[in-house]
Amino acid sequence: MKGLVLSGGKGTRLRPLTYTGAKQLVPLANKPVLFYVVEDLVSAGITDIGIVVGDTAEQIEAAVGDGSAFGCQVSYIRQDRPGGLAHAVLTARHWLGEDRFVMYLGDNFIQGGIGRYVESFRSSSAAAHVLLYHVPNPQDFGVVEVSDGRIISLEEKPRDPRSDLALVGIYFFDHGIHEAVRAIEPSWRGELEITDAIRRLLVTGLEVVPHVLDGWFIDTGKMEDMLDANRLVLQDIKRRIDGRVADDCTVQGNVVVEEGAEVIGSTLRGPLIIGTGACVEGSYVGPFTAIGPYCTVRGSEIEHTIVMQRSQIVDVPHRIEDSLIGCDVTVSRSHSRPKAYKMMLGDHSKVGIL
Ligand code: TTP
Repeated sequence: MKGLVLSGGKGTRLRPLTYTGAKQLVPLANKPVLFYVVEDLVSAGITDIGIVVGDTAEQIEAAVGDGSAFGCQVSYIRQDRPGGLAHAVLTARHWLGEDRFVMYLGDNFIQGGIGRYVESFRSSSAAAHVLLYHVPNPQDFGVVEVSDGRIISLEEKPRDPRSDLALVGIYFFDHGIHEAVRAIEPSWRGELEITDAIRRLLVTGLEVVPHVLDGWFIDTGKMEDMLDANRLVLQDIKRRIDGRVADDCTVQGNVVVEEGAEVIGSTLRGPLIIGTGACVEGSYVGPFTAIGPYCTVRGSEIEHTIVMQRSQIVDVPHRIEDSLIGCDVTVSRSHSRPKAYKMMLGDHSKVGIL
């Protein structure tokens, strides 16, 4: 079985981060979401992996390389435009050949991994298996209605959802999907929708098996989801102090301080992670915070936040919470007059001021 990972797309919901970076490389506990996807495939025994890439191809290729660091072989498949999930399958047709495959969205994250679902598909003769999850906002997803273990309806982002079961971005297909993606027309948003292709499988009498997930699933497409996923990953980390934590610090709970990081005169209340080469001084770092490599946090308080590499948080007078801070960002207190906020913010930035 092959693995097809989708890592193209527009990433509009994570702007401004996605103006400069691929959303699949935004870190959870200092590790890109995409790495969890590749690791999940490898631990399920899938080592022949194709990654569909778009405008951010260079960054994705630089991060994942040939796959040897993950114990797999990675091929890159260039999608000429973000034409939809079914368009990605069409684009990968040649690489997929007649093999069965799992299609995994590069920004999706599920608890417990896909191992048991891979096994179930391996031992089944169905054309497809799909994973479903109970969500509070089904109108934002592909919604599936199931009766007696069979799918009876499937709609993309319906205004009046018939159930709260959403399609998770992990799908298992055999070669039957190729005919289906060729047969469908673009939707109102101009994309070839995978839900339309799956509906086509059903209409032509092929079997599509639904599995309802028992653990949690997160589509990390928006900031709040990213913070949720970061929290869930940090919840499971084990205490590990490889960097230098000075004697004048207070360290509580599961805290990871990577090698080369330095913590002085600070309180760390886990779960949290401080990346390699980072410096935390005279600060409080609270639960569910990931401080990226080579960041500086000085004279500040921060909690439930992702800070990406090389950013600086210095002398900020109020606690920073529930935030997603990109790479090479500076947030600092200005001591000069007139007293005023001075900002340089990219398009679509969001700032909350006291
Ligand atoms: P989405 O989150 O559905 O779409 P998007 O990346 O364009 O983001 P937004 O809605 O915020 O604009 O995409 C799910 C995953 O699939 C994501 O990892 C990107 C990838 N993808 C492709 O590789 N090719 C595509 O044509 C599309 C639409 C998505």
